[in-house]
Amino acid sequence: MKSVASAPAKIILFGEHFVVHGTKAILAAIDKRVTVTSSFTENKTIKVNSQLGTFEVPISSSYVEVENEFRPFVYLINQCMQMKMFRDVFYRNVNGLEITIDSDIPIGVGLGSSSACCVAAAASISELFYTRTTLFGNPQQTYLAINAEKTIFPDTSGADCTVCTYGGMIEYPSIEKIDNTFDLNLLIANSMIPHNTKNSVEKVNKFKKNNEDRFSQLCDLENGLINEAITAMKNNNTTTFGLKMSENQKYLEEIQVSNDTLRDMISSLKEISLGTKITGAGDGGCIIALIKDENMDKVPELLGKDKECFSAKLDTKGVVWKIEK
Ligand code: MEV
Repeated sequence: MKSVASAPAKIILFGEHFVVHGTKAILAAIDKRVTVTSSFTENKTIKVNSQLGTFEVPISSSYVEVENEFRPFVYLINQCMQMKMFRDVFYRNVNGLEITIDSDIPIGVGLGSSSACCVAAAASISELFYTRTTLFGNPQQTYLAINAEKTIFPDTSGADCTVCTYGGMIEYPSIEKIDNTFDLNLLIANSMIPHNTKNSVEKVNKFKKNNEDRFSQLCDLENGLINEAITAMKNNNTTTFGLKMSENQKYLEEIQVSNDTLRDMISSLKEISLGTKITGAGDGGCIIALIKDENMDKVPELLGKDKECFSAKLDTKGVVWKIEK
């Protein structure tokens, strides 16, 4: 028996970094996915196969003993084994587990590969143990995935795992779905500079510590901006929505998560974009731009050959899972 689950990548339209400090954010799930397949084995180990390599530890391992990016998987298995013991009178001993990750989400560029992986793994592993995860529902799935992500990134706001679970476009933390009335033509361009979300979040924490009053003002401005962006979307006002994205970029510049490459990319799209900004942690990674349909074919030349770019479609499914016999 195999348990297969997949979850989408994400973009942040508004509120990255500020959301860690309590503001709202707007996020959308997009049409790139990670698939996690898990099955029981007789090997007395937890084995994870991924693009990053293969990792294997004894089944008795606790996640706190694991010192790398595979920690969330061991955490999820620990959790499921404990829940199983708690829920079932006849606890079935599990010998081992094998997990395989297949992903078309680029790693470390702000598209939520790690969160999507935690969401897909939470669904795949809990479904393998219980084969009735549907009973848990999205809130419990999100909770499990966020706690798994916290084992490697304790400061996470939880926004990324939430949108990867629910899909569509959401306001965070309310998880209200946002129906976009206009066709968002979102271009994603990769600076090809890998970044580390944890380091960027720590950098912003330092900025906050040294500039408390200004940071608190910026959080208020961010919340106001998000309200205006939602109104613009309701009124089908693409121009204002784009302007708000560019205004958000100014706040991200001020908290120092941008760099020359990202600024050059943003400025190269100025003539054809209604709004452009970093998406995710910054310091590298990706930018997003709201581009009119008729201008999409001008993008590769303006950005230059050394940058990857693609147009993102909204994913409305969120996490999905099934059991294969
Ligand atoms: C990373 O995709 C988004 C951040 O706001 C961190 C978080 O919300 O956990 C930088």
